[in-house]
Amino acid sequence: MNDEQNTSLAGPGDLALLVGRDRKSFIVRLEPGAKLHTHRGMVSHDDLIGVPWGTRFTSHKGYPFLLLRPSTDDLVRDLKRTTQIIYPKDLGYILMKMRIVTGCRVVEAGTGSGGLTLVLAQAVAPTGRVYSYEVRPEMQRLARRNLDALGVGSVVEFKLRDIGLGFDERNVDALFLDLPTPWDYLTQARQALVGGGFFGSILPTTNQVSRLIGALEEAGFGFIEVEELLLRQYKAVSARLRPMDRMVAHTGYLIFARAVGRQTEHTEE
Ligand SMILES: C[S@@+](CC[C@H](N)C(=O)[O-])C[C@H]1O[C@@H](n2cnc3c(N)ncnc32)[C@H](O)[C@@H]1O
Repeated sequence: MNDEQNTSLAGPGDLALLVGRDRKSFIVRLEPGAKLHTHRGMVSHDDLIGVPWGTRFTSHKGYPFLLLRPSTDDLVRDLKRTTQIIYPKDLGYILMKMRIVTGCRVVEAGTGSGGLTLVLAQAVAPTGRVYSYEVRPEMQRLARRNLDALGVGSVVEFKLRDIGLGFDERNVDALFLDLPTPWDYLTQARQALVGGGFFGSILPTTNQVSRLIGALEEAGFGFIEVEELLLRQYKAVSARLRPMDRMVAHTGYLIFARAVGRQTEHTEE
């Protein structure tokens, strides 16, 4: 497998994105002898292994495809899911706002289908750790399968627990809650976070956001921010460049805050 290496050739074990002329795409892990059957004909993995990324090729029916490495956006969109996942536009911003980089220790709840878990795991690897809490066993199983299939499961510790019972970790760098009533778990979140640590949450309605702000203030959090990202996609046709007809107008409100400690005493000379 050479996913981690910066090689210019597609190798056995690599994740590949095959994009058809109609932009319909497939993500496969390249395996010698394997075949992909599409609505546009069959593709043999053997024909792709050892080929430079970015090569055009055709299915056995002569339909043109492009061989590419999948982006994180592609991987998130392709995840098997039974819960609402966080959209890629919000995922990328969460990493930046919460300073989630290589080596960080991060807690999240709930795991859901593992969309955020994937992005956190990629960001903190190889030396960091993601502690992912989920109350429903079937969701944890799905997320574990998703993460293992993408080769980042080893960075994640999956925990089956109602977070009302608290987190095991202390002094973590960042903690993210993606569940309907985050205000119920702020004492537990504050105990897990290092002083000044990053708290984040995503909520679909403004009344939930109001409630969370009030609870954050009471629970010892400061520097509270509420933000919303709107993403407009365009039809990338040079002769008639214009926005797509449809747009996802709302995903969720992002709430960020910092764990704040006691005020330091002023020392008299
Ligand atoms: C919207 S999903 C999370 C989606 C996930 N962030 C993703 O990107 O795929 C919310 C999850 O939180 C879980 N959950 C709700 N309350 C919980 C609690 N008290 N403790 C742990 N997990 C909880 C639910 O079972 C559900 O799977």
